[in-house]
Amino acid sequence: MSNKDWWKPKNLKESEKKILSAKNIDSIDTRNDFGSYKIMRLKDDISASQLNEHNDIDPIYRVMLFKKVLKRKSLSSILDIGCGAGFTTNELKNAYQNASVTGMDISEDAIAYAQKKFNKCNFICDAIDPTNNNQVLDFELITAFEFYPFTRTDSFKDHADYITHLTKNLRKGGKLAIVQLWDNPLSISTNYNAIKDHFKNLNFETYTIPIKKIGIYIKSRLLAVALSELIRFIQILIKSRKIGKKKIIIITKK
Ligand SMILES: C[S@@+](CC[C@H](N)C(=O)[O-])C[C@H]1O[C@@H](n2cnc3c(N)ncnc32)[C@H](O)[C@@H]1O
Repeated sequence: MSNKDWWKPKNLKESEKKILSAKNIDSIDTRNDFGSYKIMRLKDDISASQLNEHNDIDPIYRVMLFKKVLKRKSLSSILDIGCGAGFTTNELKNAYQNASVTGMDISEDAIAYAQKKFNKCNFICDAIDPTNNNQVLDFELITAFEFYPFTRTDSFKDHADYITHLTKNLRKGGKLAIVQLWDNPLSISTNYNAIKDHFKNLNFETYTIPIKKIGIYIKSRLLAVALSELIRFIQILIKSRKIGKKKIIIITKK
């Protein structure tokens, strides 16, 4: 295995094993996802676990924006992959109350915590893995918020394999939504145009998420995006740094 493949399911499982077998809780490194999930499960304490460094623990804004661009008032079933401790999954359930909402994550601690905390959703501990031919994902919408196979590699093959796996059981009109930081070159944004050309059976759309402090107050997403761009530009001029841009990719089965 090369180190750049640390995000692959087999390697993540190995890394979680070490955390699960740790005897001394104080030695657990919460900078690691699995360490953070373990402390969250044991102590239910955001500050002790640093969960906010790994998950969006206040996802009302992202889900509100998501609902706006999806343009669907109701859905029958949603699968939230890489759901972590389940905060976004729960918010999806609040937004689509009639839908059956399931969260799936590779982490045992994250799923155990989510199952206890968010009882309106279903949670499953499993790896999303294109090499697992027995994995059938039959949902109307699959969401991937900051999901590592799309956010931690620039490998076209891996992106294509994951999209094939996640969309193969979608029915006509079914959707896969990917939400992530767009500026990261080690992500699907690098391959976006090639991926679009590759999948003739899928339709692709992208939407920019405005900066939260602006998007919360301005109803029109386009106006909020324009103002966000202006602020990004000013930030570059004044501080020589820009605020990361987040995008939602909506992929629909034709
Ligand atoms: C950055 S966290 C994002 C958590 C949550 N979606 C959010 O945005 O708050 C990425 C999550 O994806 C999970 N993950 C990564 N690869 C996975 C895979 N192949 N199958 C299932 N879960 C995976 C990790 O365990 C981690 O909880």
